[in-house]
Amino acid sequence: MTYIKVSEVSKWFKRRGHMTEALRDIHLELAQGTFVSLIGPSGCGKSTLLRIVGGLADVDRGEVTIGGLSPLEAQSRKQFGFVPQSPALFPWRTVLENMNLPFEVNVRGNSAAKLVEREDPVELLKSVGLGDFVNAYAKELSGGMQQRVGIARAFGSGAPILLMDEPFSALDEITREKISYQLLDIWESHQKTVLFVTHSLREAVLLSDKVVVMSARPGRVAAVIDIGLPRPRRAQIEDTDEFHQYVAEIRGYLRDEWKSS
Ligand SMILES: Nc1ncnc2c1ncn2[C@@H]1O[C@H](COP(=O)(O)OP(=O)(O)O)[C@@H](O)[C@H]1O
Ligand SMILES: [Mg+2]
Repeated sequence: MTYIKVSEVSKWFKRRGHMTEALRDIHLELAQGTFVSLIGPSGCGKSTLLRIVGGLADVDRGEVTIGGLSPLEAQSRKQFGFVPQSPALFPWRTVLENMNLPFEVNVRGNSAAKLVEREDPVELLKSVGLGDFVNAYAKELSGGMQQRVGIARAFGSGAPILLMDEPFSALDEITREKISYQLLDIWESHQKTVLFVTHSLREAVLLSDKVVVMSARPGRVAAVIDIGLPRPRRAQIEDTDEFHQYVAEIRGYLRDEWKSS
C-alpha cells in the first residue's frame, strides 16, 4: 500500500531573474516501512524533493501525500525526522543530553515527540556503537561519532519517516563503511520509512528496498530499481554476484544520464 505518494511533481526556482526547472513530473509511490535511496548527479533536485516531501518547500505542480495527509499536515503531526549532512548537536551538551533534545518541551509547550513511547536512549546509542560515550560532550566526538548520535536520535524520535540528505558525505571512506552497517542494523530493527540521499552505489544497494535513480536537471525519475536482496543483510552480502549486479545496473542508468546531459 502506498504511504508516500509523489504525483507528477514539478518545481521551478527563480534565480537572478530567470527560472530554473529543478524537478519535472516526479512520480513515486513508496510503501510504509521501506528504505528508499535517491541517487543522481549534483543539482538534479534530490534535496529539493526531500524538502518537498518533508513540508519544507512547496510544489509548483502536482501533489504529495503522506498517508493521505499533506506534507504540512504530516509535519505538524511530527511525522518527519531530518538527518542532514552534519548533525545538529549542541557541542557543550553530553551525548545523552543531545539524544534528549527532541523530547524537551519547547517554548510553545510542544515536545517534538511527546505522543510516542520513548525508546531508551542508552540502548539506541549502544546499537550504533556509542555505549561508552553516553556522558561525553558532543564536541569531543569525531565527525563519524557525531553523525551516529544524529542517526540514533532520529530513530528514537518517534517520527515514522526519516529524511536523510547525504548524511555520510563528510565522512572518510572507512568510517562511512562502518556507519552504513550500523544504519542497516538500526533500520532493520525499527523499520521506519527512510528517504536517503546518497552518491554511493554500494550504500544504496546495501541499505535499500528501492533505489530511485534521478536524471540531471531538470530532475526526473530515470529508473526505480527494487533491491531484492534478502534481509537481514550482513557485510558478506557485498561479496555476492547479486549485489554486484545491482550496483552495475544502477551505474548503467547513471552513465546513460551522463551521456544525455
Ligand atoms: N532555494 C533555491 N533557490 C534557487 N535555486 C535553488 C534553490 N534550491 C535549489 N535550487 C536549484 O535547484 C536545483 C536542484 O537543487 P538541489 O535540490 O539542491 O539538488 P541536489 O540535492 O540533487 O544536488 C539546482 O539547480 C539548485 O541550484
Ligand atoms: Mg543536495
